[in-house]
Amino acid sequence: MSQLVPPQVLSAFGLDPQSPVQVLHGGHINDTYLAGGKFVLQKLNRFVFPHPEHIMENMLGVTQFLREKVLARGGDPDREILQVVPTGEGGAAYVSPEGEYWRCTRNIEKAASYETPDSPQMLQEAGRAFGEFQAMLAGYPAASLHEIIPNFHNTPARMEQLRAAASADPKGRLAQVKAEMDFALARTDRAGLLTGLLAKGELPLRVTHNDTKMSNILFDADTKKAVCVIDLDTVMPGLAAFDFGDSIRAGASTAAEDETDLSKVRFDLGLYQAYTQGFVAAAGAALTPAELDTLPDGAWAMTFEVGVRFLTDYLNGDVYFRTARAQHNLDRARNQFCLVEQMERQREEMGRIVREAAQS
Ligand SMILES: Nc1ncnc2c1ncn2[C@@H]1O[C@H](COP(=O)(O)OP(=O)(O)O)[C@@H](O)[C@H]1O
Ligand SMILES: [Mg+2]
Repeated sequence: MSQLVPPQVLSAFGLDPQSPVQVLHGGHINDTYLAGGKFVLQKLNRFVFPHPEHIMENMLGVTQFLREKVLARGGDPDREILQVVPTGEGGAAYVSPEGEYWRCTRNIEKAASYETPDSPQMLQEAGRAFGEFQAMLAGYPAASLHEIIPNFHNTPARMEQLRAAASADPKGRLAQVKAEMDFALARTDRAGLLTGLLAKGELPLRVTHNDTKMSNILFDADTKKAVCVIDLDTVMPGLAAFDFGDSIRAGASTAAEDETDLSKVRFDLGLYQAYTQGFVAAAGAALTPAELDTLPDGAWAMTFEVGVRFLTDYLNGDVYFRTARAQHNLDRARNQFCLVEQMERQREEMGRIVREAAQS
């Protein structure tokens, strides 16, 4: 039997090199294994993360801070917060002679992650989990964190990349996407709203998770309550509206992001409300009035930004996102812009739902 995890990796973390190992599915970036039932070993993706040591510094800082917060409120930090297991030599990770970067966390038992919520209640729980994450980290010095992916949610910079792709037009596809280009360019000003407010000091810099999807929460197997926010690889300085918005982008759409029948792609206000109630109940008191006001703009911005990135990649010849068919990226861009348009029409209602959640 081929070894899933090399024995020297197990030994480096003080584990028996003969420990039984199984693959943990559910991630999209790293290779994740359960070793000896108690430990989760992950080989970090060096292509996506050129500086894994920065990830570990962020992760250690944030998890230590969170542990204190959970202890202070009488919670169980071993279950509610990821715990990094150091190597036998006290390092945050093991780097193999081949340059593979391995880290270890304690396995959180009797808990599971899910790709999609099976009810609005579960979506509300997800909102509560990410809202609590935001609230507990409100006192953390966000600017001290490494920026793991520079300009990750700099929407104006994403627009700049779109314009560059359009003017180079390396695959001669520009003529096919005139409607989508017009749609994006007409929203240039709006795309700069959040970064503009940050630059003016009207929105505070926060610790953000930056991958606030369902599969990055562990739910208790019995109670179905959210237990722990995981996958801290992209923790960075950012805006509360980014994390909120990214969850809404996927969580409040009635279709997959590459659905081509746009009549099925609906921005569902009921799903939006479920997530918002959970998020705002948990994070609301830690957020400023300006942050609460701009949560709906975060949903708009995250959806628009991804649409712009899909369109850019289509023009560039599908070099970034994996595609399974011709026009896959264009289909995704159309899908996201369809949601964007619906959010614009329902902006008032989205704001009202945030305000109601903040008052209750
Ligand atoms: N400490 C842990 N305890 C229990 N399960 C975990 C733990 N860490 C990761 N997992 C499981 O492994 C999956 C992938 O981990 P994740 O850190 O999200 O990797 P990726 O960055 O590849 O998405 C998660 O969805 C979860 O099901
Ligand atoms: Mg993940």
